[in-house]
Amino acid sequence: MCIIPFSKAVELLKNDQIIGLPTETVYGLAGRANSPIAIQKIYTLKNRPAQNPLIIHISSAESLAEYLLEPIETLASLSSLFWPGPLTLVVPIKPHTIPTIGRAGLSTAAFRVPLLETTRALIRETGPLVAPSANISGKPSATKPEHIEADFGIDFPILETDETAALLGLESTILIYQQGRWVAGRLGAIPLARFQPILGYVPSIGDVKTALCPGQLFRHYAPDAHLTLSEEGWDESSCELYDIVVGFPERTYRGAKNIIHWGSELSPEKCAHELYTILREVDKQKQAKVFWDIRFSSNEDWNAILDRLKKASSR
Ligand code: TXA
Ligand code: MG
Repeated sequence: MCIIPFSKAVELLKNDQIIGLPTETVYGLAGRANSPIAIQKIYTLKNRPAQNPLIIHISSAESLAEYLLEPIETLASLSSLFWPGPLTLVVPIKPHTIPTIGRAGLSTAAFRVPLLETTRALIRETGPLVAPSANISGKPSATKPEHIEADFGIDFPILETDETAALLGLESTILIYQQGRWVAGRLGAIPLARFQPILGYVPSIGDVKTALCPGQLFRHYAPDAHLTLSEEGWDESSCELYDIVVGFPERTYRGAKNIIHWGSELSPEKCAHELYTILREVDKQKQAKVFWDIRFSSNEDWNAILDRLKKASSR
C-alpha cells in the first residue's frame, strides 16, 4: 500500500497527478479541478463515461461565489447548515470557471465542501479538486485504502490522515437547483427530510429517465455476484439456493451456508459504513448467489442504502 504524506500529495497534485483522497463519505480519486490533463487521467483511470461529470471539492462555502452564474436565495442557508459535510449542490455556473471536460460540457457544476480537516487543508494548498469515488466505474465505491489498492494497484498513492475516513460509507446527497427549486439528484448520507426545515419542502427525487444527474444513468455499484434482496426475511427451505446470506447479527439464518453480518438492524449508520466492504467481499466469490436481508423498519435512514442495493442487484 502506498500511503503518502500531505507534502507529497500537494506535490503530485501540482504536477497534474491523481491521488486517493480520504473524505467523510467515501474515498475519492482526486486531481486539480483547473487541470484538464488531470481530469482526463481520472476519466481514463476509472474508465468513466465522458458524459458523467465530476464533483468539485472546495475548501469553504465562500469559494463557491466565483463560479456562480447568479445568486441563489437558499444557498447560504443550505451551505451554512450542511457544509462542511456530505451535501453536493449542483448550480448554474459561469462556464469559463471550470474546464469543459470536468463538467461534461454542461452549464451547471456540482460542488461540495468535504468534512475532513486534512482534505480541506489539502484543497487550500492545491486549489479546488475534482474527486469522483475511488473505484473503477460500475464497481462498488471505496471505503478503505485496500479497496483503492484492489482497483488501482499497490503503488497508487493515497493521502495519509489521522481522521476517520469514510465513516459515513455512502456518497454525498446531491441537490440540483432547477427553476427556483431544489430537486434530489442522488440519495446519500443526508436523508432528504433534513432539508424540510430550511427549504419548506422535501426535495423530490428526480426520475432517472430524465437524467437530472447523468451519473445515475450508468449501471452502478455492481458486484459480479447475483444479489437477491428480500423484504420477507429468511426462509430455511431456500437455503440450498444461496451461497452467502448477508443479514443482521440479531437474527438467525438457519441452514445458511455462509453468513456475513453487516451491522445491527437498529443502526443504518453502521450498515451504511459496511455496505461497500461487503459488496466487494461477495464480489470476490465470483458468481456467488447472495441472499440479502432487507427486512428493516421503514425509517428514511435506510433509503440511500436501499437505493445502492437495488442498483447493485439490477442486471
Ligand atoms: O461523497 C461523494 O460525493 C464522493 C466523494 C469522493 O466526495 N464523490 C462522488 O463522486 O460520489 P462521483 O463522481 O462518484 O459522483 C458524482 C455524481 C454523479 O452521479 C454525477 O452525475 C453527478 O455527481 N454530477 C456531477 N455534476 C453534475 C451536474 N452538473 N449535474 C447533475 N449531476 C452532476
Ligand atoms: Mg461514484
